[in-house]
Amino acid sequence: TKRPTEKQYVMAIDQGTTSTRAVIFDHSGTPVGAAQREHEQIFPQAGWVEHDALEIWRNTRDMISLALSEASVNRHSLAGVGITNQRETTVVWDRHTGKPIYNAVVWQDTRTQAICDELAGDAGPERFKDRTGLPLATYFAGPKIRWILDNVDGARERAENGDLLFGTMDTWVVWNLTGGPDGGVHITDVTNASRTLLMNIDTLDWNEEICAEVGVPVSMLPEIRTSSEIYGYGSRESLLIDTPLSGVLGDQHAATFGQACYEPGQGKNTYGTGNFMLMNTGEDIVRSENGLLTTVAYQLGGKKPIYALEGSIAVTGSLIQWLRDNLGLISSAQEVESKAKKVEDNGGAYIVPAFSGLFAPHWRPDARGVIVGLTRYVNQNHLCRAALESVAYQSAEVVQSMGADASDELTELKVDGGMVVNETLMQFQADVLGVDVVRPKVIETTALGAAYAAGLAVGFWESTEEVAANWAEDTRWSPQIDAAAREQLLHQWSKAVEKSFDWVE
Ligand code: G3P
Repeated sequence: TKRPTEKQYVMAIDQGTTSTRAVIFDHSGTPVGAAQREHEQIFPQAGWVEHDALEIWRNTRDMISLALSEASVNRHSLAGVGITNQRETTVVWDRHTGKPIYNAVVWQDTRTQAICDELAGDAGPERFKDRTGLPLATYFAGPKIRWILDNVDGARERAENGDLLFGTMDTWVVWNLTGGPDGGVHITDVTNASRTLLMNIDTLDWNEEICAEVGVPVSMLPEIRTSSEIYGYGSRESLLIDTPLSGVLGDQHAATFGQACYEPGQGKNTYGTGNFMLMNTGEDIVRSENGLLTTVAYQLGGKKPIYALEGSIAVTGSLIQWLRDNLGLISSAQEVESKAKKVEDNGGAYIVPAFSGLFAPHWRPDARGVIVGLTRYVNQNHLCRAALESVAYQSAEVVQSMGADASDELTELKVDGGMVVNETLMQFQADVLGVDVVRPKVIETTALGAAYAAGLAVGFWESTEEVAANWAEDTRWSPQIDAAAREQLLHQWSKAVEKSFDWVE
């Protein structure tokens, strides 16, 4: 089945927090077919968030098949497949049966706070930061593995006997696509591994000392590979028989790659369930003094790793879902904009959505959500406006930290993700940042980045220069308020943020 001339497409599988997608791209980086399905969000108690990893695997298979038929493409036309994923979400499964021993513990889940506190001890939450680039926080995978091993009957013993495997969603999907218990390939890439708290940020291998302290047997960890190389081939059952799986990137790294941020100083902000801003710092490992994470941006096969600074915000798009599902304030996500547009401003109200504590730049596990500034004047339109504004304010804080940590001044912000169709939000973002906000033609940058990584590994694309030429600007928003007004808005926001602190004792 080696018919390279017919290989006109690359597929990307995007296993995200709320849904799983498969998208097929042609050589110009244009999507030619896609399929998407949501999966259940399981909230067993306050602060806990789980997914059913088997449901996600079924959805992955279905989306592969639907996307192929949607694009009228068969697998022989695929040069390669790239996998991108919600990061940190943790699955532990039995290598003989392929069955997870517990639901996937999602990145937003805060159940591991006690484990993190214990590990921090007197040294504090920055204890592993030099080695891993990360503060000790519930966000990351390592403590989630420990929780599963501590809380599922017999799990630790089975792990120590070599019967259990750990993976983030990339690892889970690749293992299943390549045969599962029947020869599945157990790998992850440097970007996903950089979110476990278990990997050395400089040597890119597992840190055995930290693994021992966190209580994770190294034998259950996947092999760490680059983000762009052939890991294996689709198995007979996978619908991708003999197709190379040739790219893996965490979703935020994939979006950075898809936005063609290949030079130091280039960055992007993705508006999804949460917001994640990454800025390329080249081959330099930049240590943040301002609440950002040091992470691997990507590593192409045979090349040196490229690093990034990241500002992770836990709750942005999911606040809009919450207004819809938990409050019934809107009936669709789009309605938040039509309501927000009915008012000039937030009427004095601020929402700080600290549902999982606050991530960057504050890292406050003790924070919880607040709505402040309420008067009899405030109506639902103001609250919709305040919700949108909270997305922009949180990103503005991260951009300020980037400015303080990095040597290059941000001149414009490239954006992508579901919420960037919201013009009111984009204008407000430019206003509070004081720099232009730029949206590219293809906002599917996460899937596109995974496709690029997969295509580069198999020669479908030759170089990052070649794929960078596909990037095209669509819309640009420029600031419409002056510096004094901006400062006043950010000052009010900071006061609101302080009100969210110290809620959990
Ligand atoms: O770190 C979490 C991030 O990877 C989740 O992204 O787009 O699935 O919300 P998303």
